[in-house]
Amino acid sequence: MKVKIDGKTVSYRNVWIEGETVNMIDQTRLPFEFRMHKTKNYRETAEAIRRMQIRGAPAIGVAASYGLAQAALEFEGLETKKFWEQMEDVAQEFLNTRPTAVDMHNMVARMLMAMKRAETPQQCVEIALNESQRIAEENAEACKNIGLLGRNLIKDGDGVLTHCNTGALGTVDYGTALSIIRFAHYQNKDFYVLATETRPWLQGRLTSWELTQEDIKHYVIADNAAGYYMKKGDVRIVLVGADRISSNGDIINKIGTYTLATLAHENKIPFVVAAPTTSIDLNQKAKDIIIEERDLKEITYLKGYNEEKKEFQIIKLYSTDQAKNPIFDITPAKYISKIVTENQIIEPPYNLKKQLNK
Ligand code: MRU
Repeated sequence: MKVKIDGKTVSYRNVWIEGETVNMIDQTRLPFEFRMHKTKNYRETAEAIRRMQIRGAPAIGVAASYGLAQAALEFEGLETKKFWEQMEDVAQEFLNTRPTAVDMHNMVARMLMAMKRAETPQQCVEIALNESQRIAEENAEACKNIGLLGRNLIKDGDGVLTHCNTGALGTVDYGTALSIIRFAHYQNKDFYVLATETRPWLQGRLTSWELTQEDIKHYVIADNAAGYYMKKGDVRIVLVGADRISSNGDIINKIGTYTLATLAHENKIPFVVAAPTTSIDLNQKAKDIIIEERDLKEITYLKGYNEEKKEFQIIKLYSTDQAKNPIFDITPAKYISKIVTENQIIEPPYNLKKQLNK
């Protein structure tokens, strides 16, 4: 992704490993501070996922893969049985950090399967490092292809509404729905983006930051302004990502996606989902998946940047501590016009097992 630093445009990835250290752009500091967070072991990597220093379905899957490689390095001195007990525990620890998105489950399973080819813990380390790098590379490539395949869905003059952050910050590079926006912009199309602020965690500030880096015309809107703009005719297409896509086309994505999909349906606006195939879950129905509930303080407190003091501050919004904070919802397939993956644009009626030849 492009990042403007001191007047220069630099190319950055969201997450990568160097030796034993995982480097990630710290998303809790954006858009006011661009800084890297470095984790030296799997515990710190898991903590960074819990604290949302890295977030977004594919990005946390890749971070967990790197975390397993860090764990293999840490435990390589153990005898084989003990080594595997530790690795299984670490895998479970990652899966518990953020339970809803399927990418992490798919990537952790792939890491363990690859590592099990090794005869010794030492061989395992090399396999784990290589496999995690491959997973990261494949995600970057897949997201680039989503953008290339989907870019013609955006036409000159369009208003494009997007939710949460589906950019390079939610993946290794390029993004999912935001990759489509990025590549449409590279075609010199003239369009604008309405980015929902996405209460409570405000991922819209990340979307706005990424669009600013690319000079893409955009406006941040309050979540509850979306219907107003749809009805007014200012939205020609809605583009979102997904944390999990079931075989029947139902998706689980950031809370509020369902609301936007019903509004888009009511206003006859195409509602398009973009995700790599690692976000597809052919085995489970969306209704059977645990919906993550996060800290209630995300609702009752607000974190903001004090420009005068050049620091982040937390303020309390409510006198009550009673709140509810589910962070994903389920959007039924009937509201989804298209699903864009790295390989194809899938149209309804959805039967992804068949449509993906699985
Ligand atoms: O809670 P988050 O910020 O990890 O949720 C991210 C989303 O819901 C995205 O829309 C999703 O991961 C798909 S695009 C990377």
